[in-house]
Amino acid sequence: MCGIVGYVGPRDCSDVLVSALTKLEYRGYDSAGIAVFENGKIEVAKSKGRLTDLVNKMETQGKPQGHAGIGHTRWATHGEPSDINSHPHSSGRRVSIVHNGIIENYKDIKKFLIENEHGEFLSDTDTEVVAHLLDYYYDGNPIKCIRKVLHEIRGSFALGILFADRPETVYAVRCESPLIVGQGKGEAFIASDVPAIIKYTKDYFLLEYGEIAVLKNGLASFCDLHGRMIEKELKTADFDEDSAEKGGYPHFMIKEIHEQPTAVKTTITPRIECGMPNLSECGITPEELKKFNNIFIVACGTAMHAGMVGKYVIEKLARVSVTVDIASEFRYRDPLIGENDLVIIISQSGETADSKAVLNLVKGTGAKTLAIVNVKGSSIAREADMVIYTHAGPEIAVASTKAYMVQLSVMYLLAFQMAFAKGRIDEEECQRLTLELVRTPEVIEQTINRIENVCRYVSTKLITADSLLYIGRGLDYALSMEGSLKLKEISYIHSESYAAGELKHGTISLITDGMPVIAVATQNSILEKTISNIKEVKARGAMTIVICDIQADIDKEAADYIIRIPKINETLMPMVATVPMQLLAYYTSVNKGNDVDKPRNLAKSVTVE
Ligand code: F6R
Repeated sequence: MCGIVGYVGPRDCSDVLVSALTKLEYRGYDSAGIAVFENGKIEVAKSKGRLTDLVNKMETQGKPQGHAGIGHTRWATHGEPSDINSHPHSSGRRVSIVHNGIIENYKDIKKFLIENEHGEFLSDTDTEVVAHLLDYYYDGNPIKCIRKVLHEIRGSFALGILFADRPETVYAVRCESPLIVGQGKGEAFIASDVPAIIKYTKDYFLLEYGEIAVLKNGLASFCDLHGRMIEKELKTADFDEDSAEKGGYPHFMIKEIHEQPTAVKTTITPRIECGMPNLSECGITPEELKKFNNIFIVACGTAMHAGMVGKYVIEKLARVSVTVDIASEFRYRDPLIGENDLVIIISQSGETADSKAVLNLVKGTGAKTLAIVNVKGSSIAREADMVIYTHAGPEIAVASTKAYMVQLSVMYLLAFQMAFAKGRIDEEECQRLTLELVRTPEVIEQTINRIENVCRYVSTKLITADSLLYIGRGLDYALSMEGSLKLKEISYIHSESYAAGELKHGTISLITDGMPVIAVATQNSILEKTISNIKEVKARGAMTIVICDIQADIDKEAADYIIRIPKINETLMPMVATVPMQLLAYYTSVNKGNDVDKPRNLAKSVTVE
């Protein structure tokens, strides 16, 4: 969603802000803007559209020249994408702000300001109201003013603020929405995410709830909600600029698909000891795992789909009941959770608003929470009882690929360890399964090399489709949910995933001549049944594409196209079968000329409900 940046230092501030915002483009946006101190005055430039539109506008109308300022990419929530609604928002001349998140009580505040004859409102945004409220309370003491406003606004937000009479200084505050403060040599930054500033510095502070940062003379200092100065721990990013760049690939998505073998290896290797899964560094012991009677896996989108695979695997191996739920549903459905239950929250960003809300819901129920998160120090990681970090590195493409793959690998580790702890499998079986998992990075790599061109070709058969179906049974059904989401989000082709055995109960009536049906058929124990379903749709005119292993016996008449992948243990097949689904989605989007990494209307990190 929206991205915030800020800079104080010797470089050309406008250039730094635009460059940093470019690295936040993946979050999704529809307008952009900056505000910079130029000769002691705040100069603003903003534009609807992409960052290139802002840059073009500044080329013709003049770029603010200075060394301190704030910048923003906006993903519209209150008011349409337009120049006027773009950030930064100002209160006349005294205050300029950028904002990520939502101010829930902005209408009440606006009413209050109008009643007090304060401010002329030009935009439809909640943000502009906050700019005026800051102005209303400002008496020359920025910290006091920010604290006062913090007590009055409700919602999830992070703000970057300029006060006109405090030139060359940037203020920032955070409540819920993420914000980091970068510290370079003689320069300081704020940003919604570390990749935005990694080009300039790897050192950063994590701003906590209610903390205020002041960037001045190239240095960052901090105070708490009560206005007391505080020292914060300086962290160092464990990735560099290269890993946050495309590295020769045309899109981040395909680069991230190719990074999967390494991501899986980096995620599982430190959690395996003497051939057995060992999650004790994450606070998870076999004794603890033994206690759980029910597991709830709660997440959104792709992360939820990783949970679906987890359900099949945990239930099969550990014989523990697993319920998978969408976070936005779970949080409002008054779920039955209690002691001896484990609630697993899966999230790449660790900032997804609905998933985060689940943590609050679980508090006080007696259930334990375990977060499986990719972004270090993110809210979900910090608030859960236990955390397993996935080590996918920064995922920039909006469509999640490597984060999903590493989430799957953690699901397996957890399932193996739980099955062993509960005495459902013996040590030998646990070691055998773990070894198979250890070998998957190599198989994933072989799979990519083997089928990339095939998928590129098959995707040309999809580009004219208006609608398609993804089908599968068991684990293949769980996988097809992700395949379908991946395809629809970046190709804009309507797609649904269906349990293959359910087609006859209604959905098969949708099949018309040439409609693509992609069947995931990697589960040999139920292959016959899936093949029957493929034949049923084929007989009704569907164009069938079958994803199966190299040995699977598939009738030529049943499949128009077959994508064959290496065969491994059936339970682990999702680690391999994910690859063709990702590649089909990627190349369909490329062939349609879509913006693969930044699909329309989508944001990488969904920090609002
Ligand atoms: C789709 C995708 C989304 C996310 C979802 C949850 O490719 O990436 O469906 O999986 O928005 O995001 P996180 O994992 O950050 O909680």
